[in-house]
Amino acid sequence: MHTVHLDEHADFAAWREQARGLCAAGLRPDQVRFVPPDRVEPALDFGQAARPAARRKVVASKEFLERAERAVCVAEPARFDHLYRLLCRLQDQPSLMRNTVDDDVRWLTEADKAVRRDRHKMHAFVRFRKVGEREDGREQFMAWFEPSHFIVELATPFFTRRFPNMDWAIVTPYRTAVWNGEALRFELGGTKDDVPSEDVVEEQWKTYYSSIFNPSRLKVAAMKAEMPVKYWNNLPEAALIPELIGGSRERERQMMDSLNFDPNPIADKATFQPEHVEKDLSPPDVDALWEQVEVCRRCDLWDGATQGVAGVGPDDAALMIVGEQPGDKEDLSGKPFIGPAGLLLTDLLREAGLDREQAYVTNAVKHFKFEVRGKRRIHQNPSASEIKACNVWLDREIELVKPKLVLCLGGSAARAINGRPIKVGEYRGRVLTREDGLKFFITSHPSYILRVQRYEEVPTARPAMVEDLRRVAELLAA
Ligand code: URA
Repeated sequence: MHTVHLDEHADFAAWREQARGLCAAGLRPDQVRFVPPDRVEPALDFGQAARPAARRKVVASKEFLERAERAVCVAEPARFDHLYRLLCRLQDQPSLMRNTVDDDVRWLTEADKAVRRDRHKMHAFVRFRKVGEREDGREQFMAWFEPSHFIVELATPFFTRRFPNMDWAIVTPYRTAVWNGEALRFELGGTKDDVPSEDVVEEQWKTYYSSIFNPSRLKVAAMKAEMPVKYWNNLPEAALIPELIGGSRERERQMMDSLNFDPNPIADKATFQPEHVEKDLSPPDVDALWEQVEVCRRCDLWDGATQGVAGVGPDDAALMIVGEQPGDKEDLSGKPFIGPAGLLLTDLLREAGLDREQAYVTNAVKHFKFEVRGKRRIHQNPSASEIKACNVWLDREIELVKPKLVLCLGGSAARAINGRPIKVGEYRGRVLTREDGLKFFITSHPSYILRVQRYEEVPTARPAMVEDLRRVAELLAA
């Protein structure tokens, strides 16, 4: 047995160098064992043998290497052995990666997915606490996070782009990432006690979280899946959850009563100046797309917005619902249609026999466009060029989800899907087909209903929209 000791948990470069040499020397997978720090083995270790001479050239596709680089982060002690077996098999079966039912290929797919999901969770759930200030006034923050996989090196470059102007450290059990504005370095891991537990930033987070909490969508199981209980300790806002759940009915009533919201205190993005790092216009799945939308600079809207908001919902949904752009609440929370228009949309869909949770819900434009008036951020319609710039993401969402039908809410969504302006009044309520065969259906935007309801101008607007949605339900059932 040829044993390779790896010093780091997710050292792809070291594995790659060793694996290439061993595979070139013709060592079979059952003759090689990789031992990362988390692999506890019986004491039968005879040390690292000299590597035999190379006998053949080793090739690996870009796709394999990209996925392997993520898969080395999965918390499975034998991960490097799995990858070595795949690398060896690929030499004789170059098309193996296309065999999606092969056990090794499936392992790689699952490992890659688990790692990307964990990275996504880290990006969403890290909460910094202010710990001090340097002499030059630069603020210093720390955060504690417990990833499920060895993703610190993979996930933390994101925070250097998102928070370049503050010093920060993210402590995890196996590794601590430290940023000083110039370089990201990795040190030994730590414990929760290394990070102070209270400070003023938490109050802001609590206010923010209370205000974005959407009582009408209260689903404890879904909330736990999205924000696993494991992370609750770490999140200041989680302390509010029991109270918020308790008071949800009353809050729902209040929310419907007041359709205007003050801008949130943390909408001030003094430290949020990400660079343009978007590099993949065809992300392989919806999680990866979310990350690319986060760093999108295809038009100027990112500059005013808190974050990009990509779609949510099952990635094989039969129905894709496309709105115009995130509003104030969506901008702050990172989720589409969670504000007043979203509440109404959920109700209208329910009335028509459609379950919003079964649909993939997204927007034509992924950043909030607004004008500041006093303390409020007032929605502005996106321009044709902003819709066009964002089309690359919407088209990719369609390619990935492959919906049976796309439901366009209002003119901007219809324009984005149709590729040119199309009159909602003229074309609503029937199935239209795009040149590439995509079926789409146009109806009003729920904000329109909210507007006209308030002034009681058009009492028929709501029933007309429900009627359209019923037709959508029939089309999906057919
Ligand atoms: N309006 C939209 O079009 N999309 C949202 O996500 C919210 C409001």
